[in-house]
Amino acid sequence: MTVTETNGTNGANGHQEAFVDMIADIATSPNIPAQVPGLLEKIAKSGKAFLADDPKARTELLDAARALVYATETPREAMIRVCWSQSTLYACIESGVDMGLFTALSKDDKPKSVASLAEVVGAEPKMLARLMKHLCAMGVIIETGPDEYLRTGYSISLMAERFSDAYPCITDSITKGIMALPAHLKKTNYRNPTNGVDCAFQAGYDTKEHFFEFLGSHPMAAKQFNNHMSAYHQGRPSWMDVGFFDVPRLTNVDMGEDGALIVDMGGSLGHDLSEFRRKWPQAAGRFILQDLPAVVKQAQSMDLHKSIETMVHDFFTEQPVKGARVYYMHSILHDWPDEKCIEILKNIVPAMKPGFSKILINENVIPETNAYWETTSLDIIMMSDFASCERTVTNWHSLVEAAGLKIRKIWTVERGVESLIECELAE
Ligand SMILES: C[S@@+](CC[C@H](N)C(=O)[O-])C[C@H]1O[C@@H](n2cnc3c(N)ncnc32)[C@H](O)[C@@H]1O
Repeated sequence: MTVTETNGTNGANGHQEAFVDMIADIATSPNIPAQVPGLLEKIAKSGKAFLADDPKARTELLDAARALVYATETPREAMIRVCWSQSTLYACIESGVDMGLFTALSKDDKPKSVASLAEVVGAEPKMLARLMKHLCAMGVIIETGPDEYLRTGYSISLMAERFSDAYPCITDSITKGIMALPAHLKKTNYRNPTNGVDCAFQAGYDTKEHFFEFLGSHPMAAKQFNNHMSAYHQGRPSWMDVGFFDVPRLTNVDMGEDGALIVDMGGSLGHDLSEFRRKWPQAAGRFILQDLPAVVKQAQSMDLHKSIETMVHDFFTEQPVKGARVYYMHSILHDWPDEKCIEILKNIVPAMKPGFSKILINENVIPETNAYWETTSLDIIMMSDFASCERTVTNWHSLVEAAGLKIRKIWTVERGVESLIECELAE
């Protein structure tokens, strides 16, 4: 019997039992066995290229390996992976970060006993042993003997606040919104959320504030969020790299006495401007970092490149820096529903010098097919916590055009990596 031969609602008991048995069989058999041979071939090919240091092979290998897991595991195993393993791993990592476990474990490459680690972090050994077994089962640390563990690259990365802050950040300002999404969608008859002050976020965090107001009144969550912003796209191709966007076309212009080359709107801690200064040190002109007051204050306390100016600016008001070469926004418009994005864009238009100024939008462009899981995850985060979205090519064109602008070109290098959307004033 195949699934299409019965819908499970047949009143006859015999048929219902057969249906239940059939589902149990399916739930304990490989999910998509027909894909397995092709995926094994892909893994063999990309694995070979990876071992030969082909720089593109690692992500191909990882994608194929992930697809192989999804195809080979049974629906029962998938259910346990999704329902049990992710949330429990998350709890173990967040607790480990909080008690300084990863710093204690990862400071050198010698195996450490649970007893010695428990003493350093001040935890009960019996409890810690349980967390560490799960961390090992989930690939965060390596077991070298009974209750003895060794660091991995993952556990080493958790020694740095920039990376470890992701875990408390997501708990303190994101996850409860996601958990409240099913009830919110049900309550709204499954409409697409578009109101950032009445979406799942407010229900999840029992607040009336918009996400960014909430951060304003929760300084620790804000600090963690800003650190997460500075780390989440590390190690991926950047539009500032050679071979992505034509940076010299941007910089080879006369910037005059005090012309601004880049105004980074909602630039957080200045990581993008700092990267640009590092990669293009000869570029002339001013570099201006704009954000909300508390974020600018945090950025000022950091070791910013001396050429980067900081400025408090609310992008729902008119852009005060006139005639800049670039108004840059990275992961800004995905935080807002369309009408708010159009407001943000329209507030830049009066400052733009025709034929000279550009708006560069650094965001995901969701492809028509084969969207990447990081992008789709982020899209559901945006739906839950901001009532906003990740956008397709068509969405981007209509948004930009609604503000009196046009897209000159969308620069994309790799699946799952944010594109650079080059915009100019419409003629
Ligand atoms: C998702 S983060 C992106 C940060 C940074 N551009 C990046 O890509 O890492 C959004 C940023 O927008 C800032 N922001 C939110 N509302 C703003 C407003 N009304 N005016 C200016 N900045 C704002 C936040 O403080 C935050 O730094």
